[in-house]
Amino acid sequence: MDTMPGQDDSPAASYDPMRQFTELAGDVRDPYPMFAGIRADSPVLHVHLGPGSGGGSGLDRKAPRVPSVFTVTSHELAQQVLTDNARFSSAGYATTIGQVMGRSIIQMDPPEHLRHRALAARAFRARALDQWSDTIIGATIGELIDAFAGDGHADLVPQLTFPFPVRVIARILGLPEADWPRFLRLSTDLIAVMRDRDRAVAASQELRGYFAEIIADRRRHPRDDLVSQLIEAEVGGHRLSDDEIYPFLLLLLPAGAETTYRSSSNLLFGLLSDPGQLAAVRADRDLVPQAIEEALRWETPALTVARMATQDVELGGVRIPSGGFVAVSLGAANRDPGRYADPDAFDIFREDKQHLSFGDGTHTCLGMHLARLEMRMLLNAVLDRLPGLRLDPASDDVHIHGLLFRSPPNLPVRFDPAVRPHPFTGTIVR
Ligand code: HEM
Repeated sequence: MDTMPGQDDSPAASYDPMRQFTELAGDVRDPYPMFAGIRADSPVLHVHLGPGSGGGSGLDRKAPRVPSVFTVTSHELAQQVLTDNARFSSAGYATTIGQVMGRSIIQMDPPEHLRHRALAARAFRARALDQWSDTIIGATIGELIDAFAGDGHADLVPQLTFPFPVRVIARILGLPEADWPRFLRLSTDLIAVMRDRDRAVAASQELRGYFAEIIADRRRHPRDDLVSQLIEAEVGGHRLSDDEIYPFLLLLLPAGAETTYRSSSNLLFGLLSDPGQLAAVRADRDLVPQAIEEALRWETPALTVARMATQDVELGGVRIPSGGFVAVSLGAANRDPGRYADPDAFDIFREDKQHLSFGDGTHTCLGMHLARLEMRMLLNAVLDRLPGLRLDPASDDVHIHGLLFRSPPNLPVRFDPAVRPHPFTGTIVR
């Protein structure tokens, strides 16, 4: 997977981050009948965690015990929880991902959350993304596809969708190309926090030291990159300190890299598994945005977001005590038959109804416009540059799996090898 230019002389250079992700996803092929069964029984499932069932999330060994988990599976109730910060707080993330990234906006409640979010939001507005589309996103996709377009076959996960978003983030942050291999290794270690907490903590510390040098440099010599924009952002007379910038930079990796790689893979899997819909999108690129939204709904990349009840609440006829841990199943909500007809079908022509893959309410994904742009540019490039694209007929077990996160571990494909001029000699190469 290490196709980055430059040398990584660290002892971990031979370590395979892709394997971590495949293992983390688990081999649950189809959790949807289980979600449907829970939803049919009660839209809020109450699971008592008895004595000895462990505390917190398993990440923070000192975290308080979580006596009960309330899993929300209906679309309507999921939306209700996500849009009610007063009764459902995000503070519980402090005992999970907060352990490796520090106090970032994902674990803040209003009004602190709004203040911090406003400082970062400007860079991620839909209109601001033009700055990154050709120079960063297009260039990244181009160099990844260049590496295999002449071969006539590829595995699109390790060769394209997995390295794609981390490289985009490295470029958005303005990191020197020579540092990318190290950044990629540390990023993947950090993202795999649920798998190997100690490794993630070590990566978080090393990344913090690395970002400290970058921030100090941008304070001296501001540039046209996200780190400089975060340093200079000012809302209501408030600017971010270095200690507030680190957690935001660390959050971008799990929030922006893992989700986008999985959702891009799911989009390609959905289309490749249905040649009729693939042909329709190839013929009419105006269908690309609805194919993206349907892929996000159909195979939600990050299945659950967490909240904590701030008071005793009744939800869907179930009483949740103050402090109760609420797991909002975005994956189940996105397949709620009360909202979507034939919810298990991947149908890019279905009636447009907003899904919950980017969450809802004040914490709605800050990077959703960037994610949509990345997926749109990736799909268009794949269709333009890989004619005759199809799943490799020799592979009979291409599938999506996972219970916390979902995506295909591999996407072996065949296509008509591109004929392109050699960049230096101008001769035609395959
Ligand atoms: C398809 C790809 C993506 C998906 C499915 C996704 C999903 C989500 C979800 C569900 C949340 C809400 C979490 C919650 O309410 O607890 C969220 C928040 C967030 N996402 Fe994304 N995300 C994606 C891409 C990105 C990208 C590309 C970035 C930036 C580079 C990003 C940055 C963030 C940030 C900073 C937050 C926290 C917002 C807040 O707390 O106010 N995401 N994302």
